[in-house]
Amino acid sequence: MIHFVRRAENMDYPSAVEFLAKRYGIPITLDKREQAENARRERVLAMNKEAARFFHQKLFEPEGAEGLRYLTEIRRLPMPLIRHFGLGFAPGSFGSLTDHLRKKGYTDSEMASAFLCGISQKTGKPYDYFRNRVIFPIIDVRGDVVAFGGRVMDDSKPKYLNSSDTPAFKKSRNLFALNFARKNETDTMILCEGYMDVIALHGAGFSNAVATLGTAITPEQARIFARYVKKVVICYDADEAGQRAASKAFALLGEVGVECRILRVENAKDPDEYIRKFGAGAFKNLMERSRSEFDFKLEKIIAEHPIEDPDHRIKALEESVRLVASFSSSAVREIYLHRVAQLLDVSAESIRRDVEKNIRGRVRKDRREETRQFIRQSEGYGDRINPDYVKNPGAAAAEEAILGILLLHPELYRQLQKDGRPLQTEDFFTAFGKKVFAALVERIDDPSFEAGMLGEVLSIEEMDRVAELRQNRARLQNTLTVLQDGVSRLREASARSEQSLEDILSKKRRKKEN
Ligand code: CTP
Ligand code: MN
Repeated sequence: MIHFVRRAENMDYPSAVEFLAKRYGIPITLDKREQAENARRERVLAMNKEAARFFHQKLFEPEGAEGLRYLTEIRRLPMPLIRHFGLGFAPGSFGSLTDHLRKKGYTDSEMASAFLCGISQKTGKPYDYFRNRVIFPIIDVRGDVVAFGGRVMDDSKPKYLNSSDTPAFKKSRNLFALNFARKNETDTMILCEGYMDVIALHGAGFSNAVATLGTAITPEQARIFARYVKKVVICYDADEAGQRAASKAFALLGEVGVECRILRVENAKDPDEYIRKFGAGAFKNLMERSRSEFDFKLEKIIAEHPIEDPDHRIKALEESVRLVASFSSSAVREIYLHRVAQLLDVSAESIRRDVEKNIRGRVRKDRREETRQFIRQSEGYGDRINPDYVKNPGAAAAEEAILGILLLHPELYRQLQKDGRPLQTEDFFTAFGKKVFAALVERIDDPSFEAGMLGEVLSIEEMDRVAELRQNRARLQNTLTVLQDGVSRLREASARSEQSLEDILSKKRRKKEN
């Protein structure tokens, strides 16, 4: 259940446990380390809240006049919007926030852990990280201020400073303005690049706009979208980089089953500028004319190959056929191939034949690729979770058997260790095996031991593998003898690989000597 919640709700292990415990009214006792971690996180959040309040207040003091002028006059943000997003101003001095927070009882190292200050290498003293910038607080779905972005008010560099990951914040798992957007009633969210785009969109009535935090969209962020909405309109900057990033967003969102459309602003570099120039109504029209993945890719093909030129036209045709063939529904293909036919002025019939030929070829190629992949996989190539597998498949397979059996029958561990030579972490060959075994040994004496507890130290993907190991073993015989046999196989295979390494080295040595 914990593993399921981690996956479905995109949570780390402690949050998933807490979530389930709350839901089912189970009291949880935390160990010392967990308590300390929680306390640290709570302190960071409280400190962030204090900092957000500080930055926001500064905006209305004489010290922050420049910030307020920037937001209201240069960026043309109305006051209610500034308050809605809790925007702020960080003064230019090196100590205004740190002095304030120290008065509130926060230590220098706490401030540094939250990226609110840096520590001077020369003097060892803290200094404000955000200076002379307008501040965008980042608020998560629980309403906590988890991080900040700060923008300069001129053209100096870097344009933005952002908090790095802290005990309370992971950049790759948060979206700017998700706290508002998730309350929107539609089945759609708008994904933009920048803080200012989102703020402008919310100001124009599109409260379902969010942005990633200065990085390309991550798989975790894609899963967040899948959790809240069916559709996403990608609305990146009009430049080359923005459009390239859109392709990546299409792929990641498609993988989690979100339907995507893309909107490209015209005569403006980004949505913020577009709305300022043309207004909310014009943006609404653009939304209605947003393009599907097919249109987006087809237009790209046509743009790359001017179809007046016969050679280019053939290239465009080939690529379009591949594009149409990439859709799995034949009805969808039928609609798209007519569009290609019209655009390239070729008969639909001939395109249909090409598409079918392409699919047949692809199926053959897929099968070949599948076979190749199967071979690779059974040899462990490209195994991200256990990359050492290929280095010694014999040892790795023995490890999997041992771990699988212990996961199913923890009581066998005791009996196994009565043997002359107890099994140790160092006996394991792969780093993954070592990690799982070490985690197992630490918990296996607990009478309430179960495999899920390993999630405390293993990632979601590693836990998937652990579940697989268990399932694979469940179908087989799992006795003490089988377990002992696994241990000797592991030792033999490891010894062999060490030996072969020895061989190679001694051969080399001999060569040198000769
Ligand atoms: N960004 C960043 N660091 C930079 C530049 C950009 O973190 N040095 C991130 C910010 O989250 C920013 C987003 O990337 O909001 C998009 O960048 P850009 O389009 O350059 O900024 P805008 O949000 O459009 O900002 P503005 O309109 O104020 O120039
Ligand atoms: Mn912009």
